[in-house]
Amino acid sequence: MLILGIESSCDETAASVVKDCREILSSVISTQIEEHKKYGGVVPEIASRRHCENILGVVRKALDDAGITLNDLDGIAVTYAPGLIGALLVGVSFAKSLAMACGKPLIPVHHIAGHIAADYLTHKNLEPPFLCTVASGGHSNIIEVMSYTDFHVIGRTRDDAAGECFDKCARAMGFPYPGGVHIDNAARNGDASKYKLPHPTVAENEFDFSFSGLKTSVINMIHNSSQKGISLDTNDLSAGIQTAISDIITEKTINAAKAYGYKKIALAGGVSANTGVREALSAACVKNGFEFYMPEKSLCGDNGAMIACQGSYNFLAGITADESLNAAASLSIEKSFK
Ligand code: KG4
Ligand code: ZN
Repeated sequence: MLILGIESSCDETAASVVKDCREILSSVISTQIEEHKKYGGVVPEIASRRHCENILGVVRKALDDAGITLNDLDGIAVTYAPGLIGALLVGVSFAKSLAMACGKPLIPVHHIAGHIAADYLTHKNLEPPFLCTVASGGHSNIIEVMSYTDFHVIGRTRDDAAGECFDKCARAMGFPYPGGVHIDNAARNGDASKYKLPHPTVAENEFDFSFSGLKTSVINMIHNSSQKGISLDTNDLSAGIQTAISDIITEKTINAAKAYGYKKIALAGGVSANTGVREALSAACVKNGFEFYMPEKSLCGDNGAMIACQGSYNFLAGITADESLNAAASLSIEKSFK
């Protein structure tokens, strides 16, 4: 079975061919980061325009690199939600037209389900059920992965997502967009205990995430210091932020696993590339006797292979779309394939 996966939900135009669910035959990613960097974040209209320019070339290269033609495909999978609406619409319109032109099934894929599938590509033995924490630029979720296509969200973002918190703190520290990776690098040479940072909790649901208190306290600390003419140590502050985010993600994931009876834990999403988060959750899983899975670093951020992989499982479960498929800026993973 050969599935083409197309991803255009944010600032990466990506396409990939995956064979029999988990074997990546090609993966092409055209990133727009350099252009959005100038504005300190993603500019939605620019993102849509670049997707429009790049998508055909990216898909053509994915097919060429895999050594196949459109005729060889069993289906065309596309991210249809959630994300920037104008960006999603480029991928959805393109995938629909391609599916119609070559008479292949169109397979809708939820972006968060795609991130989870990055773990299937990395760990050939991983099968549901398991508990997965997905932390990206727009989402922080703790999800019960009951089957390849059934999900139950037990914790969600109340305000800023983990990646957003990394990026906003990084921006306040003067790092370029996207700042998460710069905090990761600076934290290697920092002392996390130097600055005291809050570990916000959410009273109503202990598994929900709230990172805006942490972000605000970092931004206030930076402003207060600059008003007093005191310079903060960027490495130490980075280490403090990374440790706070890693602790929050680890504590909530482990508590959720215990509460819901899971012994198999996975991590996914752009933030799963973070050294501190990887180490903290991995160590906590060892301590609690849980199996732990995380994507290889190249599959943590947005890519087409994760969409092709999840698309393969959707296809096997009979989840396909007709020509009325539309994009959605926000949509719960629980409702995605209903
Ligand atoms: O999943 P993703 O590529 O896009 C979304 O679906 O949002 O996640 C992007 C997020 C950004 O906020 C980025 O700063 C963060 O993932 N990120 C990191 C690291 N690499 C990417 N955050 C912390 N440390 C990293 N090494
Ligand atoms: Zn993503």
